[in-house]
Amino acid sequence: MASKAKTVWFCTNCGNESPKWMGRCPACGEWNTMVEAPAEDRKAASAGSARTAASDRKPRRLKDIDFSAEARMSLGISELDRLLGGGVVPGSLILIGGEPGIGKSTLSLQIPLACPSLKTLYVSGEESEKQVRMRAERLGAGGSMPDDCLIFCETRIETILDYARELAPDLMIVDSVQTMFTDGVESTPGSVSQIKEVAAILLRFTKESGVPVILIGHITKDGYIAGPKILEHIVDVVLQFEGENRGSYRILRGIKNRFGSTSELAVFEMTGKGLREVENPSEMLIPMHEQGLSGTAIAAMLDGTRPLLFEVQALVSSAAYGTAQRSATGFDGRRLNMLLAVLEKRAGFRLSAKDVFLNMAGGLKVGDPACDLAVVFAVLSSNFDYPIPSDVCFAGEVGLSGEIRPVAQTSRRIGEAARLGFRKIFVSSFSPDEGKAPKGIAVVKVADVPELVKALFK
Ligand code: TYD
Ligand code: MG
Repeated sequence: MASKAKTVWFCTNCGNESPKWMGRCPACGEWNTMVEAPAEDRKAASAGSARTAASDRKPRRLKDIDFSAEARMSLGISELDRLLGGGVVPGSLILIGGEPGIGKSTLSLQIPLACPSLKTLYVSGEESEKQVRMRAERLGAGGSMPDDCLIFCETRIETILDYARELAPDLMIVDSVQTMFTDGVESTPGSVSQIKEVAAILLRFTKESGVPVILIGHITKDGYIAGPKILEHIVDVVLQFEGENRGSYRILRGIKNRFGSTSELAVFEMTGKGLREVENPSEMLIPMHEQGLSGTAIAAMLDGTRPLLFEVQALVSSAAYGTAQRSATGFDGRRLNMLLAVLEKRAGFRLSAKDVFLNMAGGLKVGDPACDLAVVFAVLSSNFDYPIPSDVCFAGEVGLSGEIRPVAQTSRRIGEAARLGFRKIFVSSFSPDEGKAPKGIAVVKVADVPELVKALFK
C-alpha cells in the first residue's frame, strides 16, 4: 500500500530540520538553504545513535584517562602536518573541503606517496582503480609505488568498514563523502541525510578503532548545497581549499581544529606533478614588477602565527552609469565601503562617482584589519594613477575618523617585511615601541590617513 512519502526539510548550512519549507533557516539565518529529504531517513539515523548508546562505555574520572597515547602521526607533507597542529591525532575525523577540481584528490593521494611506511586504505567513489593508478604515476611515484597503499573503489560504507576493520590501516582516506551511501538511509548518495549519516558512521568507526580518517567533501562557491557545511560540527578537523581554479596556487586553511589552531594556512602550487608546498608564501603573493604599478599596495598581514605579505590590487575608474559599482574579491565589501567613506569624509577624496574594484592577490580571503591601510592606498594609488614605490608596505587598521590604529604583533610584521627586502613600512603612531627595528627597514609611524597621504603623494 503506497502512501505518500512523508518528507522533512533540512538546512544545508547548519543541518536544522523543519516540517515545512522556509525561505530562511530560523537556526542559522541563511537564506535559500532548505532542501527536502524523506522522513524515514530520520528514523534510520536515530536507530544508528541507539546502537552507540548500547555500547559498553561508561563515565570515567578525568584524571584516570590515559592521554599518553595521543602521539601524532606525520603525513609526510610538512605543511599539512603543520595545519593539523603537528600531524594527525589517532582517532580523528578530518574533512578536506573545496570546490571540484581544486586538488582534494591530488593532495590526499600524495599522502601515501609521501609516506610509504604508512599503511593506507584509499577509498575512491569517484575514480576507477586505473584512474587512481594513473594519477599516482603522474604524481611521480612511477618507479617506487608504496607497498602498503591499498586502493578500494567502493561506495557502500558498510562494505568499506568491513574491510577497514579487517585490514586495520594506519590511515583511511575516503573520496568523497558525496559518493558514499549507507543501507540505513534510503535517499540517494549525496543527499543531506546520506551525507550526515555516512559522516556519523565514519566518526563512530574512527573513535572505536583509532584509525584516523580523511574525508573529502565537495563544496560549491557559496559553501552550501554540497554538504561539508553540515558536517562541520560532526568532524574533528575541517581544512578547506581556497583560491581560484584558474591560478596555480591553492590555499588550504584550517576552519576548525579540535587539536590545534585554526588561524593557520598553507599554500600549495599545482604543478604538472601534483601539489608542491610553498614554504614562503609571501614571495608568491608579491609580484615581481620592478617599477611599482599604480593601484597596488603591499599589506603585512598576520595569518595565525605567521606573518604574510601580499599584494592588494585596486582599480578606480569613473562610473559609466549613474550609480558607482563597488566590488571586492577576498575582502569584505562592507568594509571597503566604509574605507571609501572615510576617504571621502576625512581626507576629502571624491570617490562617490567612481567605480572601485578590489582584489587580493592569489585568491586570498583576508580578514585581518591590518590590511585596511594597504586597501586605502591601493585605491588612492589607482585613483591618481600614482604608483607606490615597490619597496613600501603597510600594516594598520583604519578607524572611522581616519585615524590609523595599531595592529597585533606589529614587530613580527616588520621583521617579515625586512626579511623580504622592503625598505619602508608604515604603521600606526600608536603602536607600542618594541625596541629597535631590524636593519635595512625604516619604520614610519603615522597617526591618520591625511598625514600618510602627505607623506606618500608629496
Ligand atoms: P583533483 O585533485 O582531481 O581535484 P578535486 O579532487 O578537488 O576535484 O585536481 C584536479 C585538477 O588538478 C585538474 O584540473 C588537473 C590538475 N592536476 C595538475 O595540474 N597536476 C597534477 O599532477 C594532477 C594530479 C592534477
Ligand atoms: Mg576528486
